[in-house]
Amino acid sequence: MNSRERFLKACRCEPVDRPPIWIMRQAGRHLPEYRELRADHSFHDVVQTPELALEVTMQPLRRYDVDAAIVFSDILVIPEAMGQPYGFPEGGGIEMDFAIETEEDVDALKVDRVEQKLNYVAKSLRLIKQELAGERALIGFSGSPWTLATYMIEGKSSKHYTKAKKLFYTNRPLFDRLMRKITSAVVRYLKMQIVAGVDAVQIFDSWGGVLSPDAFAEASAFWMKKIVDAVKDDVPVIVFSKGMSHLPDIMASTGANVIGVNWNTRLSHVRRSLPENVGVQGNLDPVILETNEATVEREALRILEDMRGLNGHIFNLGHGIAPGADPKNVKRLVDTVVNFK
Ligand code: CP3
Repeated sequence: MNSRERFLKACRCEPVDRPPIWIMRQAGRHLPEYRELRADHSFHDVVQTPELALEVTMQPLRRYDVDAAIVFSDILVIPEAMGQPYGFPEGGGIEMDFAIETEEDVDALKVDRVEQKLNYVAKSLRLIKQELAGERALIGFSGSPWTLATYMIEGKSSKHYTKAKKLFYTNRPLFDRLMRKITSAVVRYLKMQIVAGVDAVQIFDSWGGVLSPDAFAEASAFWMKKIVDAVKDDVPVIVFSKGMSHLPDIMASTGANVIGVNWNTRLSHVRRSLPENVGVQGNLDPVILETNEATVEREALRILEDMRGLNGHIFNLGHGIAPGADPKNVKRLVDTVVNFK
């Protein structure tokens, strides 16, 4: 069983020799070779130049025996392709060129040429696919409509998501109008990634967990289900709504094959609360990768033992890796999972 087969079997909740592993945001600032390359190229350059995106995507695969690659890009390429560009302000976080506030703003967003504008992602995917040669799985991704909407409505990274929530609670017609557009752009984008050869896709609903259960169902899960319905016949879909794994019924309503789980829940409990054919992905606390190798191994084994005998587990962190993670610790994590019997 090679890595790609192991990963795809786990997505379908079929038995595997050991859980497959990859790490959310595995390419990026925790790797010195990434920081070195970024000294000469802007983030946008790396994302939009297929040869550079290939290089950065492959960097973690040279160091670690992860079972999957995830294409190097960002969730914010969707608003950018719709006509709302983004950048990185000095103090950190994200800044959009403007915020979406009125009906005119929503109507000005364009959906029809998303594939052409994001064609560089398709090119990167073809290069990566070739390099992986069917040995390791290739994951494509998108932001969820809700998570993208938070950046688009707030106009920047946000702490409390007040503008986005207010729009949802006080102007549903406008909120839904925006969500319909984002959702159809995401579907077109993921279909393009599928044509380019991805083995699976993950929807990053990073800010789903800031909503109450009913608001989450209507402002996020409802739209993710439309995306899952549109692509699930082609490839397995992983839905990661950070901070929502205590509501497995709503998560399962998205139709996802695999649910991403944050670290504050027992993984086996979530797995058992989901329908038999829905797997889980997770859920090591990313901070553990900033400790030491012995701690990493002990905490990884805790999760592996908790999940022993249960199918449908993809090992991962409970959220993206932090820039402060030590590559030695990451290697120990991956080796612990790879050698687990
Ligand atoms: O996983 C991977 O290796 C693929 C690459 C990837 C990036 N962003 C690269 C990136 C993925 C999957 C993402 C997804 C993403 N982007 C999410 C969802 C995932 C999550 O962790 O919740 C979100 C919310 C974003 C938006 C975004 N992009 C943020 C908040 C930032 C950090 C801004 C800051 O303060 O620096 C980015 C930039 C970004 N995207 C970087 C990387 C490696 C850092 C850019 C750099 O300085 O090189």
